[in-house]
Amino acid sequence: MKKHIVIFEPSGLRISVDDRSTFLDAIRMIGLHLPSDCGGRGTCGKCSLVLEPSPEPTSEDAKHIPSEDLRRGIRLACQHHVQSDTRAVIPHVRKDMKILTHGVSRLDEWVPDSGNEEKFGIALDLGTTTLVGYLLALDSGTQMNQIASLNPQVVFGEDVMSRITYAIREHDGALELKERVITEINAMINSLVETSGIRSDRLSRLSIVGNTAMHHLLLGADVRSLGAAPYEPAIRNSVLTSGYEIGLAFEQMQVYLPPNIAGFVGGDTVGFILSERLDFSDQIVLGIDVGTNGEIVLSNRGVLSCCSAAAGPAFEGATIRYGMRGQEGAIEHVSIEDPNSAPEIAVIGNVEPQGICGSAIVDIVAEMKWSGIVDNTGRIQSSSARVYNDDDFGLSYVLVEDKTTSRKISFNQKDVRQVQLAKAAINAGATILLQEEGLKTNEIDSVMLAGAFGSYIRPESALGIGLLPPVKRERIIQVGNAAGEGAKALLISSKAREVASNFVSKTRYIELAAHDDFQSIFLKSIHLP
Ligand code: FES
Repeated sequence: MKKHIVIFEPSGLRISVDDRSTFLDAIRMIGLHLPSDCGGRGTCGKCSLVLEPSPEPTSEDAKHIPSEDLRRGIRLACQHHVQSDTRAVIPHVRKDMKILTHGVSRLDEWVPDSGNEEKFGIALDLGTTTLVGYLLALDSGTQMNQIASLNPQVVFGEDVMSRITYAIREHDGALELKERVITEINAMINSLVETSGIRSDRLSRLSIVGNTAMHHLLLGADVRSLGAAPYEPAIRNSVLTSGYEIGLAFEQMQVYLPPNIAGFVGGDTVGFILSERLDFSDQIVLGIDVGTNGEIVLSNRGVLSCCSAAAGPAFEGATIRYGMRGQEGAIEHVSIEDPNSAPEIAVIGNVEPQGICGSAIVDIVAEMKWSGIVDNTGRIQSSSARVYNDDDFGLSYVLVEDKTTSRKISFNQKDVRQVQLAKAAINAGATILLQEEGLKTNEIDSVMLAGAFGSYIRPESALGIGLLPPVKRERIIQVGNAAGEGAKALLISSKAREVASNFVSKTRYIELAAHDDFQSIFLKSIHLP
């Protein structure tokens, strides 16, 4: 009997099961829902999902699934035993994902280009996990519609490194990644124009911000230089091309992508700098977008420096035992009043909890620290009545327990360590940027948190675990999808595009791994404050 890991998308939940279990068994064990009207006999055809790698289709698969979908790896979950580590995408869950679309709009700071009467454009935030598109009238900058979707490349890996590896190692891997995302962008644009009632021939421009890997994969550029030190982008300058050139169905659209500052500081960071005018600030502002790679920008009264901190996927739940993405069923906030009683939890969609998303992961560690369940080295104490010793994962704190099924959602010692490493990377990056500019923490006027994670976390908890430098709570501003706001400015204004094109030369990039003090500052940052 062999055990294999199944990772479910888009939730990111994972489970280790033996090879006698079917995928439907795994789904039930982990508490996810997939229609299975026939109870697993292979007759209803309801339990379809995408399996990667996909096993040979059975005769039941062939009865219920069109041949084109079979070629895409769609199979019946009840008809296949888990024979290898597999990604399983449950398609109908997509609509439940909590995707950050809003940002603090400063679009009125940019004057729309003239000569665009009755023309429309789309600003696209091409994220590693999600895509967000905004339809705007180009003559006024008025937003008419928006749409969000899961990045279909997610089945090839959750972080940029696994996508880069897939593109390099697999024959036609880069092409496959490009085609997947182009198909999704086409679908998003179609949906935007159809629901807005505008003619597609009125679409004249598309601006796209994304990290360097998403940018290169979209353009079909060589990603090998992003996969090895010194992690240089193959394309650094802004790109002006057409829908036809990149393979979009909307061939007439002019497509603009801003420059990449470094291998892991791309056009999404350019969008963030632009939307918050960090280049124009008369204050000391630290801008942080926490993701698998945390991009950190320091504006010392308009003088820009930046770095990328390899936080890893802990805050996205990927290395946390019960971690999942922010979608229905995810615990999003936790508060511990008494270390011996059940904590208060908030669950997205007010349904039965299935796992823990990033904002709650930060809450849990902060609350465990404040209530004495972990000490400041991060060690879980056994004194709480809710801490038990798990055979596989060591001391674990029980968040939720279903007394009928005995199913638990807990947070274990390894989870705490993963969070400590992730937050230390971000904190060390911020500390080094400040140090390089000769600034102290108490000189920071504001800390801007951008992106989904930065928007949904409680700033108190982020301060509580030492994810952020110790500033006063009121100095922390959550700015939402700042990259998307930047994409809108780049869409409507040639002045914004001109300003953005200078960011590469105006922004000092600091390579953390090569910095003399990084290791010692990182190690010091691992403790909980
Ligand atoms: S549960 Fe009915 S076909 Fe799988």
